[in-house]
Amino acid sequence: MARRIGILTSGGDSPGLNAAIRAVGKSAQRAYGMEVVGFLDGYVGLMQNRFVHLGSDDLSGILTRGGTILGTSRAKVTRMDMGEEKPKDMRSLMKEVVEQHELEALVCLGGDGTMRNSLKLYEVGVPVLALPKTIDNDVAGTDVTFGFDTAMGIATEAIDRLHSTAHSHHRIMVVELMGHTVGWLALGAGVAAGADVILIPEIPYDIEAVASSIAARRAAGSSFSIVAVAEGAVSTEDAAVRADLVSRREAATGKERKALKRRLEEFDREHVGGTSALASELSGLTGLESRVTILGHVQRGGTPSPADRLLATRLGAATADYINEGIHGVLVAARGETTEPVPLKEIAGKVKSVPLDHPWLMAARHLGVSLGD
Ligand code: F6P
Repeated sequence: MARRIGILTSGGDSPGLNAAIRAVGKSAQRAYGMEVVGFLDGYVGLMQNRFVHLGSDDLSGILTRGGTILGTSRAKVTRMDMGEEKPKDMRSLMKEVVEQHELEALVCLGGDGTMRNSLKLYEVGVPVLALPKTIDNDVAGTDVTFGFDTAMGIATEAIDRLHSTAHSHHRIMVVELMGHTVGWLALGAGVAAGADVILIPEIPYDIEAVASSIAARRAAGSSFSIVAVAEGAVSTEDAAVRADLVSRREAATGKERKALKRRLEEFDREHVGGTSALASELSGLTGLESRVTILGHVQRGGTPSPADRLLATRLGAATADYINEGIHGVLVAARGETTEPVPLKEIAGKVKSVPLDHPWLMAARHLGVSLGD
């Protein structure tokens, strides 16, 4: 009987996904004679049994392509939209599809949501392995995720370009970067591009402190400032409101817990996009003109960087070895230059934030970058 594996991509797309699909698929085919089935549009395609056979020709010529040749979606395996009033747990149907194809393993490429979904499938007996992709770099258990290096490169170049126009017009240029609830992207690109202020969710900012740092630069002869702000960055006041909601949610049970969860989601939604307000406030406090640039999905597009291609390729190749060894229920994680299978139950549901003693933060402080605190 032919040995066969399945692959799917889930969550926001990210550069390096195709490099990983290629590496898993080619390694499985060449080293172990396995056939490869690709499910379309993430868990939705798995549930609907929408798939393509990925032969060696299909896996050629995709290393440098951005996005994912398989398509993706943000579905949750226990809360699938079936057009009914309530979302449904569709894991048994997904398991049936996996069994129908006689898959030895299902490889799920994704971020923190995918880690949770993968664990849930593993718990009902699907032989899952997950690979860490996301431009946010927030997957716990791995040093780094593929997609992050490319996005950091794009954002760095964008901030570099903002420097000359900021300088010419003596303006504050506020640039918003993605990153969801963590600051890896804003911090990495901010430091790499020499931003004057870097605001990340891990360090709630005091607007007065940010304005004073800009005023101090002006007094020292620099009439412009570049402010790199993570989309999840919050002021100290908002951070206090959020922390209160989180602690009340943790203490609550049943309906109250659900209501507090919704309040928290609403709060987070309302606070995304606060960058224009931040820029106006800084203008008011400093007397300098400000402009806003939201980098948005540009950060996720296009060809992966060499570092992301290498990472996706080595993790993908190791995945084929783990499948051959019968290892399931793991994240295939990067640990330094080596690869390790980390049990999904240890990392699913956890978010890797920027540690407050991270060397990038320490370097930024030494160089006089304002972190808003
Ligand atoms: O998780 C990747 C990411 O790009 C986040 O940085 C961002 O908050 C989110 O996805 C945007 O999601 P969508 O593409 O669904 O708008």
